Amino acid sequence: MKKKRFLRVIVYIFVILVLLILSAGVYLKHYLPRIKLKEIQVQSTPERVARGNYLANHVLVCIDCHSTRDWTKYSGPITPGTEGMGGEVFDQSVGLPGKYIATNITPYGLSSWSDAEIYRAITSGVGKDNNALFPIMPYNAYGNLDDEDIFSIIAYLRTLAPIKNDVSAAKSDFPMNFIINTMPKEAHPIKRPSPTNQLAYGEYLTRAADCIDCHTPMTAKGELIMDKAYAGGRKFPLRNGKTVTSTNITFDENTGLGKIDKATFISIFKGYDMAINPPASIAATVTNTLMPWTMYAEMDTTDLAAIYTYLKSVRRIRNEAANSKY
Ligand code: HEC
Ligand code: HEC
Repeated sequence: MKKKRFLRVIVYIFVILVLLILSAGVYLKHYLPRIKLKEIQVQSTPERVARGNYLANHVLVCIDCHSTRDWTKYSGPITPGTEGMGGEVFDQSVGLPGKYIATNITPYGLSSWSDAEIYRAITSGVGKDNNALFPIMPYNAYGNLDDEDIFSIIAYLRTLAPIKNDVSAAKSDFPMNFIINTMPKEAHPIKRPSPTNQLAYGEYLTRAADCIDCHTPMTAKGELIMDKAYAGGRKFPLRNGKTVTSTNITFDENTGLGKIDKATFISIFKGYDMAINPPASIAATVTNTLMPWTMYAEMDTTDLAAIYTYLKSVRRIRNEAANSKY
């Protein structure tokens, strides 16, 4: 008698557990993400298009990911004529929990998208069909910028030459196909600080360029280890089987950028300007870098100077495993 009741309790517990798991799954899959569209309409002006062009190519580097890159050259410069057409694959071979393909962000891909939908994709990571985007695209950083900058980028995207290129949809492996829906976040736009405030302005640009994401080590679960912020050491598996490790960009004297002054910092970036110094060819078997040097090389000198000022202010961390070359 007792045994029977015990079994019944076990069965009840089991059924309740299954129901809980199922409803959690349904919640994650069908209720999330819930990010409302903002009521906006972006007025295109020549100033906005110019600003958007600058930001999308040289600071937030949207065009870097959303174009074809020439990995036979150092730092994989983009192939001219492919700007915005998408197709770059980020998948399991580089350590990701699924297959994500940079989408076509020329008018060919986005003509049916409203400005509000593009805004939500950039700042919250939600696609047109209310699908969550994988945060390779750093939307959580983009959600904390000035709306005016995002509007400029939208105005610029609308001016790109439409390129016919259909990109297949992303596919997350289990359990990322559930977890991904918890990742989009409401945007919290802020006002862009004035360039006269070098420190605050530099912090803003450093966030816009998302330097922290590549230059901070990660846990196995893919979370940044924030008490090592900017200390480098994040390892990126490359498709040719090699690994590139990001360097320490805190101003630690021995292992970071501590010995370099502002002018040197700027000249390191300017040294990759393709017009002056075309990127070297690199054999397929050699370790390449993921640092988008050729894109950043055209950042304004004042903006690079502000980034220097900000990085110099962040906590200095010794990290021998990610020694700077300088
Ligand atoms: C580090 C690479 C990277 C950067 C930088 C990047 N993106 Fe993306 N973006 C992606 C990937 C990969 C996807 C596809 C993600 C997915 O499907 O889950 C994507 C998706 C999108 C989408 C959704 C489009 C669709 O058809 O679903 C838009 C819009 C977009 N990006 C615009 C931008 C803009 C604008 C910027 C710059 C402000 C930017 N991206 C910067 C990699 C990037
Ligand atoms: C897509 C990943 C990625 C992004 C984004 C990125 N970096 Fe890097 N960076 C790297 C990697 C990997 C290296 C090491 C290989 C090399 O030197 O190119 C590196 C190297 C560097 C170096 C050379 C350091 C040294 O001492 O050798 C500097 C300086 C630097 N990054 C600064 C920045 C700044 C500033 C930003 C933001 C504006 C940034 N990086 C954004 C990946 C990235």
